[in-house]
Amino acid sequence: MTRVFSGIQPTGEQHLGNYLGATRNWARMQRTSDAFFCVVDLHAVTIPKAPGEVRDGSLRLAQMLMAVGLDPETCTLFVQSHVREHAELGWILQCNVSYGELSRMTQFKDKSGRHDFISAGLFTYPALQAADILLYDTNEVPVGDDQRQHIEITRDIAERFNSRFGETFVLPEAVIPAAGARVMDLQRPTDKMSKSLDSPKGTIGLLDEPGQIMKKIKSAVTDNDGVVRFDPEQKPGVSNLLSILGAATDREPAALAEQYEQYGALKSDTADAVIALLEPIQARYRELEADPGETARLLRVGADKARAIATDTMDRVRSNLGLLDA
Ligand code: TYM
Repeated sequence: MTRVFSGIQPTGEQHLGNYLGATRNWARMQRTSDAFFCVVDLHAVTIPKAPGEVRDGSLRLAQMLMAVGLDPETCTLFVQSHVREHAELGWILQCNVSYGELSRMTQFKDKSGRHDFISAGLFTYPALQAADILLYDTNEVPVGDDQRQHIEITRDIAERFNSRFGETFVLPEAVIPAAGARVMDLQRPTDKMSKSLDSPKGTIGLLDEPGQIMKKIKSAVTDNDGVVRFDPEQKPGVSNLLSILGAATDREPAALAEQYEQYGALKSDTADAVIALLEPIQARYRELEADPGETARLLRVGADKARAIATDTMDRVRSNLGLLDA
């Protein structure tokens, strides 16, 4: 069976981009593959956080992942720091990736420009992400478009390790959805919707109330030429709405464009579709929120399943690398 792995950071509130670009596909893929999904708390601490923020964020994110449809009986859902092998392999892979390769990562360039304290961990982050993926002999990694470069470097690291130390890792492929892979900010449609953009009016949170969603989409930035056409280069705002509507209703953005003559109708239909899409997720989240103890228990079960595989991989890595047996 195809092994699937993906991760998501427990920072800030989950938004429509995370759902359409990634987690919705996770819920689909768990049914046909051996799937592992990870709340990557060690990635979240690359940017300084208050201790309670990560703890609460991890639990809430796990509940949100279940609300979007991940079933801990069908897939393996766990928290990264509960499986120590991630940090261990992360170190070894840091020693198998170069300073030059890490310097070319666009996410590092973006994020390091936005913070005063730039940790060494933020720089070596892709090695930890590679460890996450390679620990599980992963075939497919379902992610949004912004993670493409991180999957490429994971493959490069795996190939290098295999050629230096013998066949150790499976080479993973990115799986990027046809629609929703790059949801843009509603106020700044040339930037992707992001937790770190600090653009509350441009970001649709998965827990936003219907009224808020309507308001945000109605006031989305478009353009002045009044023509509804799917053209992300020339018409980023309108194209983003068409992409969101298309992803929410499983239709082609370019075909949808032909049904609209006015931005107003496109906006209200998009808002209605997003509200309908999120309503059952919000209801389920409210139920799960009431029982944090059960969520924590499910996460421990997930970590036990994940650890069983991760320890086998680490035995192979240690042996191939040539470390003295303990
Ligand atoms: P993160 O937490 O930023 O995002 C989680 C997932 O959501 C996708 N995504 C988007 N998709 C479409 N449009 C958007 N505006 C948008 N914003 C976010 C992301 O592509 C991602 O799939 N480095 C990763 C976490 C990670 C990981 C891994 C992923 C750590 N280890 C191993 C895969 C495999 C990250 O920060 O994602």
